[in-house]
Amino acid sequence: MGPKCGTTGLLMMFVVGFLPYVFADYQGDALFSLRRSLKDPENVLQSWDPTLVNPCTWFHVTCNSQNQVVRLDLGNAGLSGSLVPELGNLHSLQYLELSKNKLVGTIPPELGELKKLISLDLYNNNFTGSIPTTLGELKSLVFLRLNNNSLRGRIPTGLTGLPNLKVVDFSNNNFCGTIPTTGSFARFSAKSFENNPSLNGPELLGAPFSIPFQEFLLKTVFD
Ligand SMILES: *[C@@H]1O[C@H](CO)[C@@H](O)[C@H](O)[C@H]1NC(C)=O
Ligand SMILES: *[C@@H]1O[C@H](CO)[C@@H](O)[C@H](O)[C@H]1NC(C)=O
Repeated sequence: MGPKCGTTGLLMMFVVGFLPYVFADYQGDALFSLRRSLKDPENVLQSWDPTLVNPCTWFHVTCNSQNQVVRLDLGNAGLSGSLVPELGNLHSLQYLELSKNKLVGTIPPELGELKKLISLDLYNNNFTGSIPTTLGELKSLVFLRLNNNSLRGRIPTGLTGLPNLKVVDFSNNNFCGTIPTTGSFARFSAKSFENNPSLNGPELLGAPFSIPFQEFLLKTVFD
C-alpha cells in the first residue's frame, strides 16, 4: 500500500460522509428554503423536518404515489415573508395555494418551470413587482388568481396563449396598459380586471384605448 491507497481511503471517507447530503430530497430542500424565508407565527410549518427522507409526511404538503410533491396548501395560514426561487424545482407541483396570507416581495420567475401547475392562487397578499413573463410557459394552468395584491406593470400577452386557462382574477392591483382580449382571455369578463386604476378597457369591447377601465365600467353600466 503506497501513499496513493491512503489517499483513496481518505477520499472514500469524504464521499461517504457527504452521502446524506448528496441524496437529500431536492423537494424537501426546496420547501425548506421556503420555510426559512417565511415568518410562521401560527407554527403551521412545524412538521417540516428537513432530515426526513422526503417531505411527503409534512403537513400541508401532498405527494403522488411516486413521492413527488403535487400540492402545497398554505392558504390562510398567517404566513409573512417572501417566496423563494427554489419553488421552481417542484416540477410535479399541480396546486400552489398561498392565498390570504401576508406575503410580500415579487413572484419568482422560476414558477414558470412548474409545467404541471394547474392552479396558482396568490390572492389576498401584498405581492409587488410585475407578473413574470415566464408564467406564459405554464401550459397546464387552469386557475390564476392574483387579485388583492400590489402588483403592477402590464399583464403579459403570453398568458393569452395558455390553452387551459379558465379562471383568472387580476382585480385590486395596480396593473397598467390594456387588457388582453385574444386567446383564452376572450373568455374573461370585466370583473376579473376591476379596481386597477391604470388598466385600460379592452379595445374589442368598444371602449377607446384612453378611457381608464373604471370609467369604462361605469360607462357600460349607465349606457
Ligand atoms: C403593501 O406593500 C406596499 C409596498 O411595500 C405598502 O405600501 C402597503 O402599505 C402594503 N399594504 C398592506 C395592506 O400591507
Ligand atoms: C379585495 O379588495 C377589495 C377592495 O379593497 C375588497 O372589497 C375585497 O373584499 C377583497 N377581496 C377579497 C377576496 O378579500
